[in-house]
Amino acid sequence: MQISGSVALVTGANRGLGRAYARELVRRGAARVYGAARQPAQVSEPGVTPVALDITDPERVARVAAECAGVSLVMNNAGVMKASTFIGAPDLDAARAEMETNYFGTLRMCRAFAPVLAASGGGAIVNMLSITSFYTNPFNASYGASKAAEWSLTNGVRLELHHQGTLVVAVHAGFIDTDMAALVQAPKISPESVARQVFDAVEAGQVEVLADERTRTVKASLSRDHELIYPPVQEFWDEAVKGTS
Ligand SMILES: NC(=O)c1ccc[n+]([C@@H]2O[C@H](COP(=O)([O-])OP(=O)(O)OC[C@H]3O[C@@H](n4cnc5c(N)ncnc54)[C@H](OP(=O)(O)O)[C@@H]3O)[C@@H](O)[C@H]2O)c1
Repeated sequence: MQISGSVALVTGANRGLGRAYARELVRRGAARVYGAARQPAQVSEPGVTPVALDITDPERVARVAAECAGVSLVMNNAGVMKASTFIGAPDLDAARAEMETNYFGTLRMCRAFAPVLAASGGGAIVNMLSITSFYTNPFNASYGASKAAEWSLTNGVRLELHHQGTLVVAVHAGFIDTDMAALVQAPKISPESVARQVFDAVEAGQVEVLADERTRTVKASLSRDHELIYPPVQEFWDEAVKGTS
């Protein structure tokens, strides 16, 4: 699909990658860009129409889908990462919050907007996933579980919406230079680069974006994950545990 002339909605558009998505959509000539955010007053990008939306609120999601008729591109970008382990976390609160937003929130958005996209002739859904959809890192273990669930959801929604001509794009990335990765010292890709790659993919009808070299390497190594992916992760984690004991 062409971005120029499309009507797009971006969740979490007030900062980080969502803001970069909204800006790039305007730059590419989208006819209308709805910038959805929990605090819509924080959506200040020129050319973007603020919309109040918490994706964990079923009534609000339904209302926005009804009010934003004409949307042909849904950018499911909103997400949370609580940096929580499976075993060491004090309780299940972080794991539940990540599933509630990243998995159930995205699922709710897909369900609400599927008929809106059908009415627009098919359109596209872009789900913002992660390199951690492919493997578990103990530093953000329950986040990885939510992103793996969201990856599965993305593949299933693509199959279910094929009949109505909806393109469903999975975007996987390692560290992106936003608030979410603010404490990370490792190399980070810019949100602008991710946005450019994603809209190029949407325009080319591609179903997957692997946004950086490490993400491409990990995806290519999945069939040998216990040889190639997990040993260095284990080593790093064991060192971290030693450092705290
Ligand atoms: N940064 C990375 O290294 C990285 C890597 C791979 C994938 N990702 C994914 O990229 C996406 C964007 O993350 P980011 O890096 O831009 O992180 P961020 O700077 O922390 O921004 C997260 C955005 O999601 C919004 N959000 C959170 N919960 C929400 C909810 N219930 N309803 C609506 N909006 C909600 C936040 O709104 P508030 O301002 O109201 O909190 C904020 O706009 C996420 O899905 C994330 O998992 C990030």
